[in-house]
Amino acid sequence: MARILTGIQSSGKPHLGNILGAMKPAIDLSNDPQNESFFFIADLHSLITIKDPQTRIDNTNAVAAAWLACGFNTEQNTFYRQSRIPEVCEMNWYLNCFAPFPMLANAHSFKDKSDRLSDVNAGLFTYPVLMACDILMYDANVVPVGKDQRQHLEITRDIANAFNNQYGEETFVIPEAQIGKEVMTIPGIDGQKMSKTYANTIDIFQADKPLRKNIMKIVTDSTPLEEPKDPDNDITFSLYSILADENQVEEMRQNYLGGNYGYGHAKQALYELILEKFAKERETYNYYMENPDLLEKELVKGEEKARVVAKDVLKRVKSTLGFI
Ligand code: TYM
Repeated sequence: MARILTGIQSSGKPHLGNILGAMKPAIDLSNDPQNESFFFIADLHSLITIKDPQTRIDNTNAVAAAWLACGFNTEQNTFYRQSRIPEVCEMNWYLNCFAPFPMLANAHSFKDKSDRLSDVNAGLFTYPVLMACDILMYDANVVPVGKDQRQHLEITRDIANAFNNQYGEETFVIPEAQIGKEVMTIPGIDGQKMSKTYANTIDIFQADKPLRKNIMKIVTDSTPLEEPKDPDNDITFSLYSILADENQVEEMRQNYLGGNYGYGHAKQALYELILEKFAKERETYNYYMENPDLLEKELVKGEEKARVVAKDVLKRVKSTLGFI
């Protein structure tokens, strides 16, 4: 049996990159009865950027509803908000003291975000340590994530190995990242990696009209409608290919190459494909967003289970360190 664990920050609404890069692959793993899964909403991490309580609560509910909409089975597994297991904050202090400064200073996400954000706080700097706690706190074996999280998993493993080596005992389970080869980095509407930080996301749960409006904003070149277009250098085609089946992709390719097919037509096709492909998810998401009490019930049930495991691992760490 493997313990699978992954989390999504509630620093914004969940987007297509989160869903295809992490949620769907994680849910596939959780459907294997051999596995036991811990999926959560990293709301403490979101405090790095989101200071308004109501915005954070709304985002947290949106990420939770997205997990359920994508089919996470909360009966067999554990579903929770990171902040409701406060043991993780205590663990965070312990592991901060095992995280070398240069390792954190070299983290790509810190270097990238510290150049862009006006509020470069200590939370942004020590963010990978809290992520290590999220993982090590639950003895996770496998962590399904997108490519951008690879370095954070290496940091987690380095901290855990350093700790285990120093104390001559196996306090921590060493986790493996699982980054599906077929799971690419999903591009955003401007062609960069889709990310809340770049404000280029596609929220598949948005109502029809704003969703269509957002898709129509996808950046294109200025090739006129009647001329042939290069499908291999176009963001709309790239997103369409990720979601469509082989025949649909081939048909779209021929449309691009044939001319008299505008980017507006391609964007409309992408919009319709999203509506069709995620119809069930959109319905379930709206159901939970309209019934926050049901969402709360699901989370509280999971938080009780998660806390039992977290307390146990924390006790192991405290006892190793001589705090009990
Ligand atoms: P976050 O919230 O930025 O992203 C959540 C997951 O979505 C994946 N992802 C993508 N995959 C493909 N293409 C994209 N454009 C794209 N954008 C995001 C990410 O790789 C990630 O797997 N630090 C984490 C949250 C976290 C966590 C954890 C994850 C906190 N603690 C413990 C795993 C285990 C983060 O910010 O992900």
